[in-house]
This record gives sequence, C-alpha cells and structure tokens, in this order.
Amino acid sequence: MAVTIRQGNDVDAERLSELLVRNRTYFSTGQPALPEEYYTTAHQARVIRADAESRAADRSALFLIEADGVLVGRANLSAIIRGAFQSASIGYLVDEEHTGRGIATAALRQLTGYAFDDLGLHRLQAEVLPDNVASKRVLSHLGFCHYGTAPHYLRIQGRWQTHDLYQLINPAPES
Ligand SMILES: CC(C)(COP(=O)(O)OP(=O)(O)OC[C@H]1O[C@@H](n2cnc3c(N)ncnc32)[C@H](O)[C@@H]1OP(=O)(O)O)[C@@H](O)C(=O)NCCC(=O)NCCS
Repeated sequence: MAVTIRQGNDVDAERLSELLVRNRTYFSTGQPALPEEYYTTAHQARVIRADAESRAADRSALFLIEADGVLVGRANLSAIIRGAFQSASIGYLVDEEHTGRGIATAALRQLTGYAFDDLGLHRLQAEVLPDNVASKRVLSHLGFCHYGTAPHYLRIQGRWQTHDLYQLINPAPES
C-alpha cells in the first residue's frame, strides 16, 4: 500500500466532507465541539482555500492523506512559530475503516520530513488525550518523546481536558 500526503484543492472538498461526516463520532472524542457547517462541502472548500493563504503566510499547512490514491485522512501543521522557537503543532485523523494499517505512521513520517527539511523547523509538538493509545503508538513510532502533562489544556467536547505533551526535535545538527 502506498501512503502519500498532498496539498488539497477545490475538487477534494466533497470527499473530505464525506470522510468527516462518516467519522463524525469517531473523530469527536479528540475535537472541540464543531458547528454543523463544518461538515459541509462548502466549508471544507473554504478550509482548503484558506490553507493556500496560510502556507504562504507561514502559519500552517494542511495535507490530505491518500492510500493507493484513495482519500483516507488528514494531517496538518498548525501554530508555526519562528524566531527562537521554530516550532509547530501537528494534528492527524485517519478514516476509522482504514485504521490499524500503519497509515498515520507513514503519513506523519512524510509530514515531519516536510516540517524539518522543507520548512526548516526545529521542533514539532503533539497534544494527546491521555487515553488515546493509538495516537501515542503513532508518536512513539516516529520518535516523539513525552515531555509533560498540561492540566486543563484544550477545550474538547465542552470540557477543558488535560493533555499529554510530546515533542520531536529535528535530528539534523544545528537545525
Ligand atoms: C490516531 C489515528 C490517527 C491512528 O491512525 P492509524 O492509521 O490507525 O495509525 P497506525 O496504524 O499508524 O498506528 C496505530 C497504532 O495504534 C495501535 N492501536 C490502535 N488502537 C489501539 C488501541 N485501542 N489500543 C492499543 N493500541 C491501539 C495499532 O495497533 C497501531 O500500533 P502498532 O503500529 O504498534 O501496531 C486514528 O486512530 C484516528 O484518526 N483517531 C481519531 C483521531 C485522533 O485521535 N487523532 C489524533 C489526535 S492527537
């Protein structure tokens, strides 16, 4: 199976919204409460268009994950901070039907390559709910280290929830 990541374009919006609708319950445990509109093709088309501007402004980057050419998920860099920090946060989702096949691990390997080699970032961060075992497995495959626990860190499903914090430092010397 070939796993690839790529920037989205307008024609991807419909399939992306279908994926989000199909996995609404599955993805919801780790997400903030989202408005109905989030699940529409029109909204996802706006998200994809906004991504082009955000990349140009060096703020964030959204990627679609494909397995053998089929859309199976999404991975993104957000909160890109330059200066002395040179850091970004990562996010990722894989269609429940396609989980357990190494797709997130393969996609994030490419995302970390992009962040370090193309953007020249020094550090990536992931914030994970303590009981998200699958996500922690993915991070451990990629070499992320647990460096702390942040109480009441993100508002997920209406509650400020404690998260485990992970980071991966760019292995290139002087990066
Ligand atoms: C987390 C997520 C992206 C993983 O995607 P995936 O493509 O299945 O990931 P991979 O197949 O690369 O790796 C998953 C690992 O977790 C393991 N796993 C999955 N569910 C598990 C569970 N309930 N308990 C223990 N291990 C579990 C798998 O066996 C695999 O480990 P292995 O490679 O050592 O065998 C996917 O489950 C998802 O989208 N979850 C909902 C959204 C989410 O939580 N995103 C991350 C937010 S921090």
